[in-house]
Amino acid sequence: MVDETKTAKLTIDGDSYDLPILSPTAGPDVLDIRKLYGQAGVFTYDPGFTSTAACDSTITFIDGGKGELLHRGYPIDQLASQSHFLEVCYLLLYDALPTAAELEDFETTITRHTMIHEQMHNFFRGFRRDAHPMATMVGVVGAMSAFYHDSTDIADPRQREIASHRLIAKMPTIAAMAYKYSIGQPFVYPRNDLDYAANFLHMCFSVPAEEYQVDPILARAMDRIFTLHADHEQNASTSTVRLASSSGANPFACIAAGIACLWGPAHGGANQACLEMLNEIGTVDRIPEFIARAKDKNDPFRLMGFGHRVYKNFDPRATVMKQSADEVLELLGVENNPILAVAKELEAAALADPYFAEKKLFPNVDFYSGIILEAMGFPTSMFTPIFALARTVGWISQWKEQISDPALKIGRPRQLYLGETARDYVNIEDR
Ligand code: CMC
Repeated sequence: MVDETKTAKLTIDGDSYDLPILSPTAGPDVLDIRKLYGQAGVFTYDPGFTSTAACDSTITFIDGGKGELLHRGYPIDQLASQSHFLEVCYLLLYDALPTAAELEDFETTITRHTMIHEQMHNFFRGFRRDAHPMATMVGVVGAMSAFYHDSTDIADPRQREIASHRLIAKMPTIAAMAYKYSIGQPFVYPRNDLDYAANFLHMCFSVPAEEYQVDPILARAMDRIFTLHADHEQNASTSTVRLASSSGANPFACIAAGIACLWGPAHGGANQACLEMLNEIGTVDRIPEFIARAKDKNDPFRLMGFGHRVYKNFDPRATVMKQSADEVLELLGVENNPILAVAKELEAAALADPYFAEKKLFPNVDFYSGIILEAMGFPTSMFTPIFALARTVGWISQWKEQISDPALKIGRPRQLYLGETARDYVNIEDR
């Protein structure tokens, strides 16, 4: 909303321009520069969007200084301990906690959409067995637009709704199939009698040859991991989804774009990179060597699972994740896991080091998640697909919010051009 009493004044070569100031319900004020180019003929420059709000949103709020994360106003630690993933999905999508009847209806809808088109099995089989499951997911999710034509018309609210449900429901099936394919085991169909997280574990770890009972405590831990990853405001993959969607692209294509962006090690790929780093460190006596490398300007090495663009304090998700790691490892009887010991020592060593304190680098969500996932039996290559599965609801909620805005404009950043100015073409024999 515009606060008429507050305006910023910009002076360029003696000419003054008034910039309206928008006041959010929480967070810093925002300078409205939408008319700046038209009025003053200048662009703003902000690579990496460190100071730029690219949209308005009512879904998720982060206070990086306080280490606070709210979904529709509800703190993440309360949602992680008192709610569960499908209820959080409903909250993100529909802006309110559901009544018991609404939740039951929503859970039934999601459960009834978990199977994928049978012909998609052939699509999976086109991939090499050693393909990274993220590569398979980018391809298969993008291909959903070729299988579900009846939910790609973004102008139709009902089709948008069905696409949202399909994506949330089918993502565990697709992630589990990517895993099964990579290890040469048969695909396992979803089971409607299991809840969302238990069904995913069942599709990943059961085999037709014998009975597999999902441990309810592991299912709860899995559900909590999903909840902790559900949404995170305008991060790189969410912004990618929004940019793709701004052109009117269909939701399956947009989510595939988000998955591609998430894959990078600076973003969702950090959970895999973090566990690989902890394994490489191996024993606590090697921690000082790796801390020294992380601080060395001439060494590209970074402490994976540390630092965040927005959090300049503890990532609240990391705190819950650390508790979960202790619980899950104890349950599995591996509380003396050497990698957990390395992680805890590394965290303590980094937090005590002035380099990390001065730069406000704290553990992020990826620091402990890999330890839990590995203890559950997932290979490192499945960590980022699990992140993608859980983040799908966030991407979809942000997509839905954007697409419902009548003022939607195609995203089109400008640039600071530093190349050659116009020059004449030179024929090849004259170069
Ligand atoms: N280890 C060592 N130094 C670091 C680290 C780290 N993990 N992260 C940042 N720094 C330093 C960096 O070298 C820079 O130093 P200087 O100012 O002297 O040049 C300073 O801290 C600021 O770093 P930046 O790269 O400008 O900060 P950013 O906001 O652009 O990057 C980040 C944020 C998450 C990409 C970065 O902290 C990082 O690469 N962390 C490791 C990867 C990681 O864990 N990513 C998961 C993020 S949370 C989940 C998700 O969003 O997907």
